[in-house]
Amino acid sequence: MSQSDNTAIPGGKLVLVEFEDGIAWVTLNRPEKRNAISPKLSDEMLSVMNALECDERCRCLVITGAGDSYSAGMDLKEFFRETDRLDAEHKAAVVRSAAEWQWRRLMYYMKPSIAMVNGWCFGGAFNSLVACDLAIAAEEATFGLSEINWGIIPAGNVLKAVSAVMNQRDALYYTMTGETFDGRKAAHMGLVNEAVPRARLRERTRELAKVLISKNPTAMRTAKHACKRVRSMDWEDSQDYLFAKLEQMQFLDPEKGRASAMSQFLDKKTFRPGLQNYERGR
Ligand code: ACO
Repeated sequence: MSQSDNTAIPGGKLVLVEFEDGIAWVTLNRPEKRNAISPKLSDEMLSVMNALECDERCRCLVITGAGDSYSAGMDLKEFFRETDRLDAEHKAAVVRSAAEWQWRRLMYYMKPSIAMVNGWCFGGAFNSLVACDLAIAAEEATFGLSEINWGIIPAGNVLKAVSAVMNQRDALYYTMTGETFDGRKAAHMGLVNEAVPRARLRERTRELAKVLISKNPTAMRTAKHACKRVRSMDWEDSQDYLFAKLEQMQFLDPEKGRASAMSQFLDKKTFRPGLQNYERGR
């Protein structure tokens, strides 16, 4: 992938991208369909994510939805009914494109990511919600695993996503009842990091994004990937992996952050690592 020319704005009609001081605000843009995920939206989102991964204007990715919805999940008409008639190969291509941006790419994205849940969040929307590193919801947002209401199971890896962040009782309860819950409840259950009044949602997300952007990007990337990877490892493998990553990241870090931070703490005595960031670029 080549470096972006830093002038073109990725996205188009179904996905809008706005840059602001290192934050890439990425908006699913089908408000008239409550941002339901169609095959075309998936394709556009995947190309946006490809472009932003190497675009220096994006140092933190925020995913949200236009209007009063984060996303009403997979598009029942375009993603399901209209693909029923496709042969297996074409159907697989549609499913793979959705999976690629919704969780596979997002889960191990090179930049930190935040899901900003502004409203409706149903079914397939749980994939990107969970695959983002952090999530902030409007207290007024409405979440639901509605699949049971229309006779299917939360597939497309939604149940895997839900089981990764919700406890078993809550995951089963909402999967089996299809009951909705609000942003406060989502925060209480650990499905999102916090919930704030909708009027403060963007401001709070911006604050959090700025904190993430202020950190050493190599350390940030390695830390978040490792945090996700070690979950499925035993203690021995995890320790080995983490030591290897620690050594690898020092080698890869163009800022040489560790040496710089040590010098600021041990020699210059200009900062306290427990309480603040080292001064980058020194
Ligand atoms: N797929 C396709 N179209 C959708 C979807 C969807 N998931 N969600 C909403 N739309 C469409 C509606 O069909 C309607 O289209 P129309 O104007 O052409 O008739 C338009 O978006 C607006 O929808 P309303 O239902 O009128 O909007 P309202 O604000 O009253 O309700 C709500 C919003 C609660 C999100 C409702 O649309 C809904 O229940 N959507 C489906 C939610 C769902 O179950 N998603 C999970 C799908 S399963 C999965 O993702 C695996």
